Amino acid sequence: MYRILNAKELTSNIYLMDVEAPRIAKSCLPGQFIIAKLDEVGERIPLTICDYNREAGTITIVFQVIGASTEKMSALKEGDSFRDFTGPLGMASEFVNEDISVLKNKKILFVAGGVGTAPVYPQVKWLRENGVSCDVIVGAKNKELLILENEMKAVAGNLYITTDDGSYGFKGMVTEQIKELVNNQGNKYDVCIAIGPMIMMKFVCLLTKELGIKTIVSLNPVMVDGTGMCGACRVSVGGEIKFACVDGPEFDGHLVDFDEAMKRQQMYKSEEGRALLRLREGDTHKGHKGKGCGGNN
Ligand code: NAD
Ligand code: FES
Repeated sequence: MYRILNAKELTSNIYLMDVEAPRIAKSCLPGQFIIAKLDEVGERIPLTICDYNREAGTITIVFQVIGASTEKMSALKEGDSFRDFTGPLGMASEFVNEDISVLKNKKILFVAGGVGTAPVYPQVKWLRENGVSCDVIVGAKNKELLILENEMKAVAGNLYITTDDGSYGFKGMVTEQIKELVNNQGNKYDVCIAIGPMIMMKFVCLLTKELGIKTIVSLNPVMVDGTGMCGACRVSVGGEIKFACVDGPEFDGHLVDFDEAMKRQQMYKSEEGRALLRLREGDTHKGHKGKGCGGNN
């Protein structure tokens, strides 16, 4: 059992929890994720790690309520426990293996959209702890939905907040802020790391391709086993099939087939769609406990 040491609602429908998981906290790195399970029969919920404290042995997760399982999860309070909390899963961010002196000379731009701000935070924090300063854009629909602003301010070199409705910070989507920084202010970036809703990552990649900025994205397709066995999280990257849970979750954004990924995400929402995927893609889709492919929320 994995005890919840702190649980709070950050804003409407978005929750933060600190979970006692010392083994994961000891070895996890930015970019990796965990799969949480509420009880014996519950669905597996994949969540990118938002923060970790190796001394305290805790992992911080942030999630949005978007289905029955996350709704149930949001009702958990301090002192309650997860039945399973598996991780760290997936590959760490590419930069953790780079030479720090090389990294220090790179101009890195992070683009975080909505709940995607949570997985961006440990990356910016890790870089700051290693003496690398980055520019960070955080976009939200409105001021109310902005999360982790103070935490991000503490670790970012420059923080640019955008809201779609202009209720706070720059008015416009994150792509408008990228154009402002690059085209109007003349900023140059070697790499952009974009994490947020699929549609945001798609449009960020279309723009950064035009601007000639290498871009990494973190994909969160539906996941079931998280071990590369079930096929649920398959994505096309550069014309090859990849499994986000073991080959990712981070990929070269300019090679990702976002339209296909978004279509699959939609199909997973209905039993008919899942049956069609099984028919087209074969029996890699065993799904959770042989019940067929399940959604992750
Ligand atoms: P949102 O819809 O509020 O969007 C956040 C920001 O993304 C917007 O403010 C805008 O600046 C930008 N954006 C959205 N559409 C855009 C477009 N067409 N062009 C350019 N920029 C655009 O975000 P949300 O409601 O927090 O998103 C929830 C979704 O994010 C869920 O589907 C969830 O699965 C996904 N998510 C992904 C990750 C990940 O690891 N990739 C992590 C957490 C959540
Ligand atoms: Fe990735 Fe099953 S969740 S293959």
